[in-house]
Amino acid sequence: MKGLKEYAQVVNARLEQIPESIPEGRYAIGEMPWLLSRSMRYSLSAGGKRLRPSMLLAAVDMLGGDAAFALDFACAVEMIHTYSLIHDDLPGMDNDTLRRGRPTNHVVFGEGQAILAGDGLLNCAFETMLRAASARPERVMDSLLAIREIATGAGVTGMIAGQVMDLYCEHNCVGDVEALEYIQHGKTACMFIYPLRAAAHLCGADEQTLRALTDYGRAYGLLFQATDDLLDVTGDAGAVGKMLGKDAESGKLTCISAYGIEGTRALVERLHRQARDALAGFGDRAGFFLDLVDAMVHRSM
Ligand code: IPE
Ligand code: IPE
Ligand code: MG
Ligand code: MG
Ligand code: MG
Repeated sequence: MKGLKEYAQVVNARLEQIPESIPEGRYAIGEMPWLLSRSMRYSLSAGGKRLRPSMLLAAVDMLGGDAAFALDFACAVEMIHTYSLIHDDLPGMDNDTLRRGRPTNHVVFGEGQAILAGDGLLNCAFETMLRAASARPERVMDSLLAIREIATGAGVTGMIAGQVMDLYCEHNCVGDVEALEYIQHGKTACMFIYPLRAAAHLCGADEQTLRALTDYGRAYGLLFQATDDLLDVTGDAGAVGKMLGKDAESGKLTCISAYGIEGTRALVERLHRQARDALAGFGDRAGFFLDLVDAMVHRSM
């Protein structure tokens, strides 16, 4: 069984090739300018745990699918995730200056170029998936369903919806646990649920499998965001690689502001159990996903 480290290596190797690396100073019609290539690659290659693409690949392996075919879909998910981080850090959003242990994209390239680097990564993600899909006409329906899932997860009822309400609720919605769940389901869980559902489609999986992966992705995603909120108050900045203590300062509606530290730890326990339960039907094949959610309970980065 491959672990997170092995999957992350496979993803990183492919992300060395896409998006293209353009030599300094070069811009030619039909190619992206060097500056865009540099700003996109700056954030993409800054590290990052590669959780979402690794989970997509691990789900394909678990379901007996074609992991080589799934790789570009996995990389696309990481491009979308990275774009969401670049935009999340902008002065108009969370206004952060440190990400993945490096100065944020807008600190290095300026706000305008950072917005465009995010836009570029989002577009590149869909170009990458459509290129993979059109190279395999016999798999076109599976591919379309997978792309649709990823678009939904990243989209206006998913990640973007969560981000909109996250900003709306700053210094607002105090203690509103329904709004909190909407935000955390949208901004975070959807980027786990839908890539897992995409993996299921790439394997032609049945409804029951889709449902189980959806339940796991939801519990894992909410657990992941609860521990992200915990790290913001209890974490070590060096290990986390981002600015800490920002949520309270910005008046964010988080698990900590709604439930306190102990209440959040209890929520983490509950979600941990839910995530494990969702995997029951997969038996021994679910080892990667069980290890992943166990590790998340005590994470430090
Ligand atoms: C950070 O995600 C954004 C949240 C949803 C909390 P990760 O913690 O997965 O970030 P990287 O990819 O490892 O940098
Ligand atoms: C970010 O949530 C979620 C997305 C980028 C979609 P946070 O704002 O809590 O993430 P961090 O703490 O900046 O990584
Ligand atoms: Mg945010
Ligand atoms: Mg943020
Ligand atoms: Mg956070």
